[in-house]
Amino acid sequence: MVNRAEIGVIGGSGFYSLLDDAEEIEVATPYGPPSDTITVGRVGDRSVAFVPRHGRDHAYPPHRIPYRANLWALRSLGVRQVLAPSAVGSLRPELGPGTLVIPDQLVDRTTGRAQTYYDAGGAIHVSFADPYCPTGRSVSVVAALENGWETADSGTLVVVEGPRFSTRAESQWYQAAGWSIIGMTGHPEAVLARELALCYTTLALVTDLDAGVEAGDGVTHEEVLAFFGANVERMRTLIQVIVEALPDERPCPCGNALDGLKLPFDLP
Ligand code: ADE
Repeated sequence: MVNRAEIGVIGGSGFYSLLDDAEEIEVATPYGPPSDTITVGRVGDRSVAFVPRHGRDHAYPPHRIPYRANLWALRSLGVRQVLAPSAVGSLRPELGPGTLVIPDQLVDRTTGRAQTYYDAGGAIHVSFADPYCPTGRSVSVVAALENGWETADSGTLVVVEGPRFSTRAESQWYQAAGWSIIGMTGHPEAVLARELALCYTTLALVTDLDAGVEAGDGVTHEEVLAFFGANVERMRTLIQVIVEALPDERPCPCGNALDGLKLPFDLP
């Protein structure tokens, strides 16, 4: 496929209007179809591909999202840098709803999700000590601060299997471990991006205090959707600013993630 886009955004369906001159493309992958057709368009003079993570009608719950197809499809369109906005709960009272966290670490508590492209044809072990792109993170932090966001420039995202929210005991355990925020979709997205040598940056919007942090009735889906919906326009503007600020040439190590490894197939 010809290079159609340089930057990918994987996010909620509220982000469709991010793009000018938008065109929808159906992309087939060896891992089946992505969550939906991919919308390719422009933000300023940057070409951007958008995938609605859950599908445009929210058909895929977090544990059923075709993560491998989504990342593969983006790479096959030419994408090399991925921005991943998502809603998260907070494990710390000081990171209240409305805070934007740009995590630097991740803990995988998912189970049973396909989380590699390399499960046949030899052992490929990518480095994942630092799961996020340092350039994407620093560009995003600067943009968020300049745009008036309450911003945490680092933090550990624990990704749980869901689709249920955590019990108070689980949540208190994650908090005691020192982790900062909790979500359901940040993994295996992050590792699949690394396995395709893509830059990957999570933009985590805190929508609620998780069950172990607040004294009330616990988190509800309505609460998360309502909060994210109320902030989606602000997030859209921020993503546009970040897209325009990302460098053309990648100065980070992400593009070298597969150097020296004997891949069983060519990347798209
Ligand atoms: N997404 C948004 N809030 C969440 C929470 N409290 N737990 C897991 N995923 C979330």
